[in-house]
Amino acid sequence: MPSIWIDGQLIPLEEARVSVLSHTLHYGVGVFEGIRSYASGIEGEEDTAAIFRLDDHLRRLEDSAHICHLPLPFSREQIAEACVKVLQANDLQNGYLRPVVWQDDGTLGGLGSMPTVHLAVAAQNWGAYLGDDGLHKGISVRVSAYRRGGLGSFMSRAKINGQYVASTLAKREALAMGYDEALLMDDHGHVCEGSGENLFMIRDNVLMTPPASAAILPGLTRDTVLRLAYRMREDLGLREITESFIARDALMVADEVFLTGTAAEVTPVREVDNRVIGGGKAGPVTSKLQDAFFGVVRGTVDAPKGWRTTFGSVAH
Ligand SMILES: Cc1ncc(COP(=O)(O)O)c(C=O)c1O
Repeated sequence: MPSIWIDGQLIPLEEARVSVLSHTLHYGVGVFEGIRSYASGIEGEEDTAAIFRLDDHLRRLEDSAHICHLPLPFSREQIAEACVKVLQANDLQNGYLRPVVWQDDGTLGGLGSMPTVHLAVAAQNWGAYLGDDGLHKGISVRVSAYRRGGLGSFMSRAKINGQYVASTLAKREALAMGYDEALLMDDHGHVCEGSGENLFMIRDNVLMTPPASAAILPGLTRDTVLRLAYRMREDLGLREITESFIARDALMVADEVFLTGTAAEVTPVREVDNRVIGGGKAGPVTSKLQDAFFGVVRGTVDAPKGWRTTFGSVAH
């Protein structure tokens, strides 16, 4: 039976309860993270796995909570420990972790009420978010009419539950229309990111991604890929790596496009708004960055200290 860590205790998932009157359910003020663990690819260490960039994810969880005035009831160390415990309890090496923070006192309060803050960490097995085929052959995307929120009221840096409404509607609309994923523009017509992924393009050996000052979540996979690109720049044949705004039509004439995210990992894009990109398959730069990314998360390619939190995968 799957287990979940909730308010300090590991319990069977089916025993976990949240009130229907939870403030977060009604108004959307809650925060969350998405984190992955990977079985080690290092010879002789096959019985271990590692959570990727756990500390950075938990720091972002703290930032998201801070932005929402939500005092976290557990320290970073306690939540990190919970992440390991819940993976082990569910016997997961390649796991997807979902820390989630919500407010609930079991009574209906107004917008301004400040119910108790709760924290849970769930874990499950999750394969390639955009499909195995997508990971290898590329996906089709549609630039949505739904926008990434304006910077005045939309807290881009935070993963806030309520901020995923437009992304969810855009994603569902894209799927219903036969595309794999939606891209969202800001109010100025710059393409910002996918419904849950950051965006990269390559044209004439220049690698581009929207800057952290755009209406994007500054993703940790984005950061990982940028660092890899700088490190591998010569091998990738890149004459420039830049963080700049991307117009919709610039994307249509890109040589390569790809998306990054904890869930999506590094996924090539083969079509934007029905325009074929780079011959309709994963491009050479994308493929090399994808290989390097999987090497880093599995421990076979060098990464900065602290990026891999290793754990023995069997708890019982
Ligand atoms: C809106 C949005 N953009 C980008 C990302 C990618 O961020 P990361 O690479 O940290 O998972 C995510 C996923 O968390 C997201 O929800």
